[in-house]
Amino acid sequence: MFSPAQTIRAILAPVLLTSLLFPSLYQPFLDSTWSTLRYSSFYNWSTFETIWTVFCYAAIEVSMTIVFLRHPEWRLSPSPSSKARAKPKGMRRPSRRIGEILLYIAPLLTMDLTMIKKFADVPLADILSSGNYDAHALLAPPDDHVLLAANASLPSKSFLLPTLHNFTASSPLQLVRALPPDAPSSRRLATELMASFLIYDTLFFAFHLSLHQIRPLRRWHAPHHSHDTGIHPQVTNQLSVFERLGLVLLANFSLNIIGSHVLTRTLFVPVFVWLLVEIHSGMDLPWGYDKVLPQGWAGGARTHMKHHAGGGGGLEPFFCWWDRLWEVCR
Ligand SMILES: *[C@@H]1O[C@H](CO)[C@@H](O)[C@H](O)[C@H]1NC(C)=O
Ligand SMILES: [Zn+2]
Repeated sequence: MFSPAQTIRAILAPVLLTSLLFPSLYQPFLDSTWSTLRYSSFYNWSTFETIWTVFCYAAIEVSMTIVFLRHPEWRLSPSPSSKARAKPKGMRRPSRRIGEILLYIAPLLTMDLTMIKKFADVPLADILSSGNYDAHALLAPPDDHVLLAANASLPSKSFLLPTLHNFTASSPLQLVRALPPDAPSSRRLATELMASFLIYDTLFFAFHLSLHQIRPLRRWHAPHHSHDTGIHPQVTNQLSVFERLGLVLLANFSLNIIGSHVLTRTLFVPVFVWLLVEIHSGMDLPWGYDKVLPQGWAGGARTHMKHHAGGGGGLEPFFCWWDRLWEVCR
C-alpha cells in the first residue's frame, strides 16, 4: 500500500523527469495551450495575474479550511475533544473579508493599470505598443525622418526600471500586457519553476528574518502573528499591507531575475499559493508537501506552526536549509 504522499510522488516524479529529459513529448501540448492563451483577451489583460492570484487564493484557502474543519484529527494543536470540530476563534466568514480582498488588490491593481508589463522574450516593439508608445517612431533608425532625441528617451526594457504607461485621453490606463510569441519548452518551464522557488525561498527567509530581528520592522510583521492559539488556513493572509506587498514583489522578482516565461508565471501562482496556505494550515496532512519532497528538504506545516507558536526556526517558508544554517550560526 502506498501512502497518499507516495502516490503523489509516483505521479509527479515521472512528469518532472520526462519534462526535463524529453521536452519534445510535451511541446505539441504546450504550443497549442500557448496559442490559445496568447489570443485570449482575458490572458492579455494587464490585471490578469492579480485576478488569477486572488482566484487561486480563494479556491485554495476555502478548500483547505474545509479540510481543516472536517479533519480535527490532523490538526497540529488539537482543540479540546468536545468541540473538536469547532471553528477556531478568529476564523471569519467570506462576507466579512471583502475589506481584506480590497486591501490586497488595491496596490496591485494600481501598478497593473499604470505601469507597462515587461516580460522575458517579448519584442521591445510589442512592450512599447502595449504601453501606448509609438513603437514605430521610437525604434526607427535615427536618420529615418525621426528626431534623434526620440531614441534617447526610449523607455528601458529592464524590468528593474518601472515604466509608466503613456497616458493619453484615448488611452488613460494600462489595460493590456504584451506576451511572448512562442511557447516555452517543458524543460524551461520545469527549470524556471524550480529555480524561482529556490530564489524566493532564500529571499523571503532574509526578509522574514529581518522582520523578526530588526526592532522597528517588527510591527509590520505583528498582524501575521496576532492570532489565537494554533494557526489555521486563514492566517496565511493575515498580513500588514507592507508585508503582503513585500511577499508579492519578492515572488515577482524571483520570477523576473531568471527571465521566466509568462506561462511559468501563470503556473507559479497556484503552486506558490498552495504551499503558503499549506504551511499555515495548522495540519499535519498525510499528503503534505514535506512528505512528497525527499526527506529533510521541506520546512512544512509543523515547522511553521512552531514558529507561530513562538518557538525558534521556521523563518524559511518552504525549505529548511537556511533555517538550519541560521540555527547553527547564531
Ligand atoms: C511584476 O513584474 C513584471 C515584469 O517586470 C512587471 O511588469 C509587473 O508590474 C510586476 N508586478 C508587480 C505586481 O510587481
Ligand atoms: Zn514570523
